[in-house]
Amino acid sequence: MISLALIGCGDVAETGHVPTILGHDAFRLAAVCDVDRRRAELFSALAGGAPAYADWRELLASERQLDGLVLALPPEASPEIVVEALRRKLAVLDEKPLAASLSEGLHLQRAVEEYDGVYQIGFVLRYGDWVDRIRREVAALGQPLQISVAVYDERLNSHDPAHSARIQSFIKNSSAMAHEGSHVIDYVGLWNDSPWTAASAVTQQTSPAFPGPNIWNARIDFENRSTLSVKIGWLLPELPHSTVTIVGPDGRLDFDCVTGIGHVETGAVERSFSAPPLAPQWQRQYQEFAAAVRRGRARTATVYDGLRALETTAACELSAKTGATVTPDDLAAAWGLPPAAEVRAATSGPVAARTRVET
Ligand SMILES: NC(=O)c1ccc[n+]([C@@H]2O[C@H](COP(=O)([O-])OP(=O)(O)OC[C@H]3O[C@@H](n4cnc5c(N)ncnc54)[C@H](O)[C@@H]3O)[C@@H](O)[C@H]2O)c1
Repeated sequence: MISLALIGCGDVAETGHVPTILGHDAFRLAAVCDVDRRRAELFSALAGGAPAYADWRELLASERQLDGLVLALPPEASPEIVVEALRRKLAVLDEKPLAASLSEGLHLQRAVEEYDGVYQIGFVLRYGDWVDRIRREVAALGQPLQISVAVYDERLNSHDPAHSARIQSFIKNSSAMAHEGSHVIDYVGLWNDSPWTAASAVTQQTSPAFPGPNIWNARIDFENRSTLSVKIGWLLPELPHSTVTIVGPDGRLDFDCVTGIGHVETGAVERSFSAPPLAPQWQRQYQEFAAAVRRGRARTATVYDGLRALETTAACELSAKTGATVTPDDLAAAWGLPPAAEVRAATSGPVAARTRVET
């Protein structure tokens, strides 16, 4: 049994992590922690009386039999806990996004390398059958690709002020692009893993009461001349369907993420396909994490995947702020890092130097 402690007893822990851990025979939930002690105690009850802590340092000092940590925390809280966990040789499953800033993300990456630790990021959407189905279809569309992804989520519901407050805190402390867009960058990377070369973004804020933009329109260019257009819509009263459209010189693909219905046209051939709609794949994520813990290394949703997403969404954030298109060199300069080419040539660095290793 893999003995886990959960830090962060909020919404995603309640709806995703805890039911999956408790229902999985490879894992045991040995301790829980939240700065909000009432949440920690509630989760302790869910986990059959596992010890509850309000301070993660106290948890780590007291719980000596742990194999790993699950961090279901906002990105501004998680990096220092990750580094300490890795120092203690604990495996980490860490909610996306990797960090709230590029410098913290790089620090975290260096810690994974230095301690040779098990670090998996919670890109729970990448395991969907539809992601794999599109990956298999996309080769027939030719290159370069024009990929468009529209994601509408986190509906504005005046009867659920707690939800609205939680989403607004994400917007205030990070961005909808970093939270939602990081998933998109991640799974699109499984269809087109070419490095990004430029990013531009414009935003809209649909209510003065929000602490920042809730709508993002971004464009990302890749070295292989493919492009990605990402639309994120949060906190809208009605949500259009989330969709994927991919156009190449040899055909096109459309997928409706809500109905799971897809359509491919290549030359004279037209086909429909269906896949389970977009949904978090908790079981698959935890299967991968169990395998990573046993192997001593993450092979999917690695720190490099997290860094690639963080870097690309950070470039979009910088573009939205400055109104200019951002290249990897611009991003490196803005963060006081060496030019992107130098970083790429090194073994580690902000410009996704290593591609994902899939098996
Ligand atoms: N993988 C997914 O599909 C998915 C879905 C939803 C959310 N998320 C991500 O998960 C993270 C958490 O989201 P959420 O919706 O559960 O947020 P939330 O605000 O409901 O929960 C976060 C919890 O962490 C606690 N916390 C904050 N700092 C802490 C600290 N230093 N020590 C202990 N506890 C601390 C808070 O008190 C809160 O209970 C976010 O980064 C979000 O992007 C991922």
